[in-house]
Amino acid sequence: MNVSRRRFLAGGATLALAGVTNARAAAPNVNVPNVPNVTNVTAPEPPALRAMRAGARLAPPDYPETPIWGYEGHVPGPVLRVAQGERLTRRFVNALPQPSTIHWHGIRIVNPMDGVPELTQAPVPPGGDFLYDFIAPDAGTWWYHPHHRTWEQMARGLYGALIVGEPTPPRVDRDEVLLIDDWRLTGDAGIHESFGAMMDWSHAGRIGNWVTVNGGGEFRLPVRRLERLRLRLVNTANARIFTLGLEGMEGWIVALDGQPLDTPAPVPVPDGRIALAPAQRADLIVDVTAGDGARALLVSFEREHDRIIATLDVGGLARPERLPAAEALPPNPVPPLGDLAAARRVTLRMEGGAMGGMREAMMEGRVMETRELVKAGRVWAFNGLAEMPREPLLTASRGETVRIAMVNDTAWPHAMHLHGHHFRRLGADGRPGPLRDTVLIDRHETAEIAFVADNPGDWLLHCHMLEHSVSGMKTWVKVAA
Ligand code: C2O
Ligand code: CU
Repeated sequence: MNVSRRRFLAGGATLALAGVTNARAAAPNVNVPNVPNVTNVTAPEPPALRAMRAGARLAPPDYPETPIWGYEGHVPGPVLRVAQGERLTRRFVNALPQPSTIHWHGIRIVNPMDGVPELTQAPVPPGGDFLYDFIAPDAGTWWYHPHHRTWEQMARGLYGALIVGEPTPPRVDRDEVLLIDDWRLTGDAGIHESFGAMMDWSHAGRIGNWVTVNGGGEFRLPVRRLERLRLRLVNTANARIFTLGLEGMEGWIVALDGQPLDTPAPVPVPDGRIALAPAQRADLIVDVTAGDGARALLVSFEREHDRIIATLDVGGLARPERLPAAEALPPNPVPPLGDLAAARRVTLRMEGGAMGGMREAMMEGRVMETRELVKAGRVWAFNGLAEMPREPLLTASRGETVRIAMVNDTAWPHAMHLHGHHFRRLGADGRPGPLRDTVLIDRHETAEIAFVADNPGDWLLHCHMLEHSVSGMKTWVKVAA
């Protein structure tokens, strides 16, 4: 690590802030009542989850509050917790000036609860409500966010964590959820109203100038040396890819995108860097190795400077020696891949964007030239189509193993997310990698994924750089009932 580089606290440089103090917002933990799964019992009224306007202290105290949109008036929204196999019930109440929905990102739930306006439900109008009710099949780190005008609603603060607990959780002293977000704020800490800027849509997306962890510009935690922590890292930014590293902490990656790693040996946090694309998660189990009185850091490596995402102030000793290596998390009931050689394979060609050279694409049933597409707010295309296709990319029979080769024929990286399933990326040698729900595909790179299409319904496949998704990078797959 280059220690001579300048360092900034999570918030960063653009607001030109001095003396940032702890502005970490409280994320109340909501315990889900144990709703009996019996039909002849009148279930209690499910708790509400309200999307509303509110104010939040994102920036340091000498700045005004930021007018945000938040679940239950907070950013992030409440951490929802449920045990594996249990039912989660929330009445979504829309107190926003726009229609909205909730999508439960990554968790393999039933299709009607997926919260996708184009495929699974009508958007809930202002003043309306919708009952979300599903069983959480997999333990892990999931999250929730709107799926209508996501590029605006998430950027205003609508997101929260959904934690599904393992029946026997791993032994740690602390379990922390860190929702890392990137905001575009004005000089007086307002939300920059530059929504719909084609410059963002055709380039890297809405990249911000202020980073928060759990809604605050600085995340601090008092710890003891050799304390063991589980860190659940979630990238809730619209478009920013974080490259993270640890200092004064050592440990293992135990899950990616919520799903436990199933490698034969624990995977040490690579010396240096963990790339976290928008929507991706990484669960780490780490030991604080920094000395008493020192700091342990979670750092984001950026072009201009390194950014401190989290500071752990070490005081005292938790135990005389390091604990033995972390054990693997118990696997979730995700079906194993079938015969890959025999599996059906479809191609998804991604094109468009700045410097992409796309001349035309189909929209509304005809070929449009780039200029016309831009006027219609479209700058990207999947297989030559710049809108949500009427027909699915693929119709799978239930339980079928399928392969999708995603060819990134653009000058930009993309974070492709499949709903309702986890997939494995096939390596250059054809070997399947870890289970994921979002894959980062570099410019001019091809990522081939394989998954068992076992969850019936219509499932979106889109870029999670939200400005890309709205401007053409969206398709879907159908799994027969
Ligand atoms: Cu995190 Cu389609 O969503
Ligand atoms: Cu993209």
